Amino acid sequence: MSSANRRDFMKTVGAAGLTASSALASRAGGKMTGGRVLGANDRINIAVIGCGGRGRSDAQSFADFGEKNNGACQIVAVCDVYEKRKRAVSERHKCDGFLDYREVLARKDVDAVVIATPDHWHSKMALDAMDHGKDVYLEKPMCHTNDEAKLLVNTVKETKRVLQVGSQTTSADQWWKAKKAIADGMIGQMIMSQGSYHRNSTGGEWNYTIDPNAGPDGKGEDYIDWKTWQAASMCSRTSARCRILSIWWPTMRRGTRWCSARRWQTRNIFLA
Ligand SMILES: NC(=O)c1ccc[n+]([C@@H]2O[C@H](COP(=O)([O-])OP(=O)(O)OC[C@H]3O[C@@H](n4cnc5c(N)ncnc54)[C@H](O)[C@@H]3O)[C@@H](O)[C@H]2O)c1
Repeated sequence: MSSANRRDFMKTVGAAGLTASSALASRAGGKMTGGRVLGANDRINIAVIGCGGRGRSDAQSFADFGEKNNGACQIVAVCDVYEKRKRAVSERHKCDGFLDYREVLARKDVDAVVIATPDHWHSKMALDAMDHGKDVYLEKPMCHTNDEAKLLVNTVKETKRVLQVGSQTTSADQWWKAKKAIADGMIGQMIMSQGSYHRNSTGGEWNYTIDPNAGPDGKGEDYIDWKTWQAASMCSRTSARCRILSIWWPTMRRGTRWCSARRWQTRNIFLA
């Protein structure tokens, strides 16, 4: 995709939200800055964008890894449009917290970002991060459209950044074991594959409670920058309190994860 098309695309995404202009203006011209040059003894400084369930867990995993590996990495900044989550995770990791991810990307000391925001933000934030010289760990799904996927691949090449898409169901041990069992013929000839996922718990399937006072008019830690939350979202007409819970979990999120896992596990059989 040409850089002109790329700029058009970013304008389109931005027009849908994020008080459009500023984030996208910073992309106009496609300027890229190199990442920090790390010495052998330097820590990798990580920022986490999106401090919900997944972001909190990722932040803890990276912090634990750093502690067990002679300080190989550390969390230096976190960001969430929800004041309460931003504060809680910044306190947990004793680091700076931001409501606006562009302030995180502007920091020279940040080497890599974990993007754990809702799906509709993934491609935009990953592109911006790479343009600012950051490596990216991007929660699945990588993006929504083929054009976004091409942009991401091209930007990885242009900026020479590392981008890894995280998906538990193609990483955790049990799924590798299942893949091997299929490849080894343990279950005989495969003629069909079907995946599903269920939780047998009193809490049900991600039926989290909604913070009653949280929202765009919330004061103090109840404040959510709802306009930014919704940017580029096709569900922007839904009420703030419902969307805080990312209620499209069942249809979109799990589908992505399970489809990719089934495809990966059976690739050599069905796609040969
Ligand atoms: N690797 C996996 O298999 C796996 C597992 C679970 C979730 N995920 C993915 O991780 C992502 C997050 O999931 P979750 O369950 O933590 O959701 P969540 O709704 O609990 O958390 C998302 C957080 O992002 C914040 N946010 C929204 N817009 C933002 C913006 N513009 N800037 C900064 N923060 C913003 C929200 O306020 C919220 O706190 C989803 O894309 C999901 O698909 C991946």
